[in-house]
Amino acid sequence: MLKRMRSDIQAVFDNDPAARGWFEVIFTYSGLHAIWNHRMAHFFYRHHWFTIARIISQASRFFTGIEIHPGARIGNRLFIDHGMGVVIGETCEIGDDVVIYQGVTLGGSGKEKGKRHPTIGNNVVIGSGAKILGSFKIEDQCNIGANSVVLKEVPFGSTVVGIPGRVVRQGGKRLDRLSHQMPDPVVDAMGLLQREIEQLQVEMKSLKEQLEAEKLPKE
Ligand SMILES: CC(C)(COP(=O)(O)OP(=O)(O)OC[C@H]1O[C@@H](n2cnc3c(N)ncnc32)[C@H](O)[C@@H]1OP(=O)(O)O)[C@@H](O)C(=O)NCCC(=O)NCCS
Repeated sequence: MLKRMRSDIQAVFDNDPAARGWFEVIFTYSGLHAIWNHRMAHFFYRHHWFTIARIISQASRFFTGIEIHPGARIGNRLFIDHGMGVVIGETCEIGDDVVIYQGVTLGGSGKEKGKRHPTIGNNVVIGSGAKILGSFKIEDQCNIGANSVVLKEVPFGSTVVGIPGRVVRQGGKRLDRLSHQMPDPVVDAMGLLQREIEQLQVEMKSLKEQLEAEKLPKE
């Protein structure tokens, strides 16, 4: 157990350049506290002491702002940075060396029963505010962009951004340009006006030329 706790602390140093010393990390990193509390809660959950498990997880939520359901299965060296607003659902599975930033939800889509939360592979980074909803898998070595909403499986080594999340990079190679950007109606209207003005200018010019050509012989 001590070995595992030591590797949890090491994960903080590996992922957070702001971490200074062991004392500071142990006493001030709420992500670390949430993971340690979760291990306790998960122990009771596995032994069917569901109420005690929930009490521990809710107390942990109160102190850390991180809600991990006692049923969630979490691998080694998970690092939850800042933490506030993180929600991890009951049937969620998380691999090793995963980084989760604040405001991340690993939740259900509301349409599934049984296994209804995502499975996260190893070495995955989940950006702040990202929502991963449903019982699919995020394969190893993926980056999930901040504030994206991921609703389906993500293949190995991908970067996903946007709403709904789409793969923009795979195996280090960039895919087609993003089409998740929202249309801007003001810019579209301005563009239309600009094109109409240009067309009118062309018509005016040719009308003027016609008029001048008609006037010239009379003079
Ligand atoms: C997604 C992320 C991991 C970058 O991955 P990457 O593979 O290096 O991707 P790139 O930076 O090359 O970006 C690829 C494209 O996605 C866009 N993009 C990157 N992150 C995005 C995001 N969160 N939302 C929308 N678009 C995003 C880029 O603008 C770029 O678009 P372009 O092709 O039109 O230029 C990173 O942008 C991110 O969101 N990290 C989360 C970090 C975080 O949450 N920090 C909180 C600290 S408190």
